This record gives sequence, C-alpha cells and structure tokens, in this order.
Amino acid sequence: MENLSSKFALCFLSQTGELPLESLENKEVVVTGAAGFMGSSLCRKLLEQGAKVTAYDNLYSGKIEFIEDLFDKGLNFIKADIRDPTTLEKATKNSEVIFHLAAQTSVPFSMKNPQEDCEINVIGTLNVLEAARKNENRVVFASSCAVYGNPKKKPTPETYPTKPIAFYGLSKLLCENCCQFHQETYGLEVVRLRIFNAYGPNCHGVLYDFIKKLQKNPKKLEVLGTGKQSRDFVYISDMVDILIKAATSPAAPGEAFNVGTGRTTDVAELAKMLIKVMGLKNVEVSFTGGQAWEGDMDITLADNSKAKKMLQWKPQVSLEEGLKMLIDSEKY
Ligand SMILES: NC(=O)c1ccc[n+]([C@@H]2O[C@H](COP(=O)([O-])OP(=O)(O)OC[C@H]3O[C@@H](n4cnc5c(N)ncnc54)[C@H](O)[C@@H]3O)[C@@H](O)[C@H]2O)c1
Repeated sequence: MENLSSKFALCFLSQTGELPLESLENKEVVVTGAAGFMGSSLCRKLLEQGAKVTAYDNLYSGKIEFIEDLFDKGLNFIKADIRDPTTLEKATKNSEVIFHLAAQTSVPFSMKNPQEDCEINVIGTLNVLEAARKNENRVVFASSCAVYGNPKKKPTPETYPTKPIAFYGLSKLLCENCCQFHQETYGLEVVRLRIFNAYGPNCHGVLYDFIKKLQKNPKKLEVLGTGKQSRDFVYISDMVDILIKAATSPAAPGEAFNVGTGRTTDVAELAKMLIKVMGLKNVEVSFTGGQAWEGDMDITLADNSKAKKMLQWKPQVSLEEGLKMLIDSEKY
C-alpha cells in the first residue's frame, strides 16, 4: 500500500509565502456526516480548495439545506447509511481521504438508547475502516473529549486515561479502539481528533438551546444544570482547519489529538456573553440546578499542545469573536 503521507509530503506555500498550507486540491475525498453542522462547513472549505467531494449522509439528524447550495459547486451527494458496508465501499472507491464525521451525537439520546448509539457509532465506524482498508484511504475520525469522562487533570492531555461517563463517550472510545486496531493490524492511516465543544453556524447543543429560548422570550433564559458546568469552545473555522491538517499532515497518522482552545468557560458566563452579543438587556437568567442531563460532563479543558506542535494548528477565533460571527450568520 502506498503510504499516503508521501502523497501529501509536498506542501504549498500560502500567498504570503510564509505559512505552509496543505492542500487537497484535485484529490477525491468522502465526508460522512456531511449534512451535519461540521460536515457541511468542511465540505464548503474542501470545495473552495478544489477537492472533489462526495458527501455521504442518511439525513438522520443532518439537513439537506446545509449543503444543497454546494451541489452547483460540484458536491456529489449520496444519501446512505454508514451501516450499509456495500454502498460505503463503492462511495469511497477512488477517494484518498475519508473524513468520518457521521454519528449519533446526542449524549442524552445515548443514555436512553445505548444499543442504537453503539450500532450507528461503532458498527458504522467499523464499516468506514473496512472500506478504507479495501480502498486504501486515510481516515480522519471525529472522536470526542467525552472519552475522558470527568478527568481530574485539567487541561487534559491525550495521555490521560480514558474513562467515559456516558454511552456516547463509550461508543466513541470503542470507535477509537477500532481505529487503532486497523492502524496497527493493517497499517491503515487513521487520525483521531478528540473534539471538545465545536460551535458556529448551524450548530446544535447548548448555544442552539440558548439562542432558541432567547428568540422565543428575550426576557428570560432558563439554563439546564447549575451553570457551573464548563466547556472548551472551539469555533468551526478552527475545527475545519484541523480536520484538513489531519488529512494532509505526514505526522498525523496513528495519533490522537485534542481539539480545543485551552480555555474553558462556564455555562453561566456563556449565557452572559451571548446575551450581550445578541444586544439583549434585563434578561432574567435562572438555573434548574443539579446535573443538566445524565452523562453530562463537569468541566472540559483541552491541553492542545500536541496539535499545536505536531500539526502546527493554532485556534484563531476567540469565544467573543465566534459568538458574534454565529449571531451575524443568522444560521441557528
Ligand atoms: N459538535 C461538537 O461539539 C462535537 C464534539 C465532539 C465530537 N463531535 C463529533 O464530530 C462529528 C460531527 O459532529 P456534528 O456536531 O457536526 O454532528 P451532527 O449531528 O450535526 O452531524 C452528524 C451527521 O451524521 C449523520 N448521520 C448520523 N447517523 C448516520 C448514519 N447512520 N449514516 C449516515 N449518516 C449519519 C447525520 O445525519 C448528521 O448529518 C460527530 O461524529 C460528533 O460525534 C462533535
């Protein structure tokens, strides 16, 4: 099997001539979960870079509206399930990289439906890895900081023991085990990204929840939990940047990287910041108390020094700037 690292060893210089910029220009790539929050932004960027992109999604939670404007720009869409190995194998036949983002992504859903969560995430990932083995693709896998559970050490490095507290985190950890197995047994190039809290246009999760509640009633915001639960928020443009770096860097295969900014913000503070960015005044913020939902983590904070060093990745967007861009985009 030709080592894909060598295919990408050639880096291109940016217009300034200073920063190395990896490129997937003219390469065929497949994005699973392409109609989701992250997948749709990734497809957009890849097309801008001149890649030939196939979007693979069964629209389980994704929306065709997130990507339909890209059809004119050459996006090839396959509506199919990652639990269908035959279609997956055909779809990835000529591609060099599979960005594997498709997943069941809700922690509360995973606590109520562990079998379905496991089936989509683990069997789906196994199918992706098997297709990649046959077709010699590099795989970039979207893992999660949920694999750490509630770590004592913060910022948390990749070497910290994994101990998930939710079925979602458990299924992501099992996926990571499959990634490592394929890597070690078959020499497949797999990169695992342990993503903290990504946000931006079309996102879901806590910010979506806050914005929807404030749109409905701009005078009141009920926050689930104590408000002290804290998250490392990473903006979508920084997220897309590291996905592409993981796909092109010769140093990335075989590694797991934390994807977070190294700054954590509690949810009460997040609510304050959002209210300010939305230009709202005199909003009564209340807290339900207790755990926001079963399986919710307390504090997430990434030690991102490995990604900075090995991938030359540096998050560029502060939470203040990111919230402003999200609200200005009107996509929520
Ligand atoms: N958003 C975050 O903060 C975050 C944090 C950690 C990890 N991740 C991981 O990153 C990836 C992308 O996250 P996102 O926020 O864009 O999620 P998302 O829910 O917006 O997107 C997931 C996509 O996968 C598709 N999908 C689900 N099941 C499928 C199946 N069986 N076959 C084909 N497609 C299927 C959905 O339709 C959806 O378009 C996921 O794997 C998620 O677990 C996200």
